[in-house]
Amino acid sequence: MTTVTIFGSGNMGTAIAGVVAAGGASVQHIASADDATIMGDVVVLAVPYSALVPIAAKYASQLDGKIVVDITNPVDFQTFDSLVVPAGGSAAAELAEALPASKVLKAFNTNLAATLASKKLGMVDTTVLIAGDDADAKSTLAGLVSAGGVNAIDAGSLQRAHELEAIGFLQLTLAAGEKIRWTGGFGVIN
Ligand SMILES: NC(=O)c1ccc[n+]([C@@H]2O[C@H](COP(=O)([O-])OP(=O)(O)OC[C@H]3O[C@@H](n4cnc5c(N)ncnc54)[C@H](OP(=O)(O)O)[C@@H]3O)[C@@H](O)[C@H]2O)c1
Repeated sequence: MTTVTIFGSGNMGTAIAGVVAAGGASVQHIASADDATIMGDVVVLAVPYSALVPIAAKYASQLDGKIVVDITNPVDFQTFDSLVVPAGGSAAAELAEALPASKVLKAFNTNLAATLASKKLGMVDTTVLIAGDDADAKSTLAGLVSAGGVNAIDAGSLQRAHELEAIGFLQLTLAAGEKIRWTGGFGVIN
C-alpha cells in the first residue's frame, strides 16, 4: 500500500487525505510542532507558502528522492493584489531549488478544498492539474488522485507552475471577493 505523507491538517490537508485514502493509500499527517519521520514516498505540503522553505530545510535529507507536492498559492495577503514570488517564477520553482534531490510537483492549487472533498465542481467531476519535470512522479500522483475518484491531468513541466499559480490566485480573489462560491471555481472539461 502506498503511504502519502501530508504536512498540515487544515482545509486542504484534510481534503487531499480524503481523496488519496479513498483510493486505498494510507495517510500520515505531520503537524508544525512535530519532529517526524516521513513514512511516505509521496509528500504533500498542505501548508502556507511561508512554511515551504522552513519545511524543506528541516526535512531536506528525508525528502531526498521523494515526490514532494507543492499546493500553495503564494498570495500577497497584505494587498491581495499580487503574488509574492518573482515575476515569471513560482513557489514550486523555489521549492525545487531548495530541494534539488526531490521530485517536486505542483498540484491541487487550482482546486478549492470543498471541490476536492465533494469531488464535484457543479455538474462536473473535479480535476487536479499536475505540473512537474519527472513524468513518473506525475504519473504516480495522478494514479493516487484518480484512484480516489478525482480526475488528474498532466499540465506540463514545472514551468507551468507559474500559470497554475496565476489561475489559483485569480480563483482565490474571486472566492474571497464573494463573486463565486467556495464550492465553485474554475473547472476542466476534457
Ligand atoms: N483552502 C483552499 O481552498 C486552497 C485551495 C488551493 C490551494 N490552497 C493552498 O493550500 C495551502 C493550505 O491551505 P489551507 O486552506 O488548508 O490552510 P489551513 O486550513 O490554514 O491549514 C494550514 C495547515 O498547515 C499547517 N502548517 C503550517 N505550518 C506547518 C509546518 N511547518 N509543518 C506542518 N504543518 C504546518 C497548519 O497547522 P498549524 O495550525 O498547527 O500551524 C494547518 O494544519 C495554502 O498554501 C493555500 O494557499 C488552499
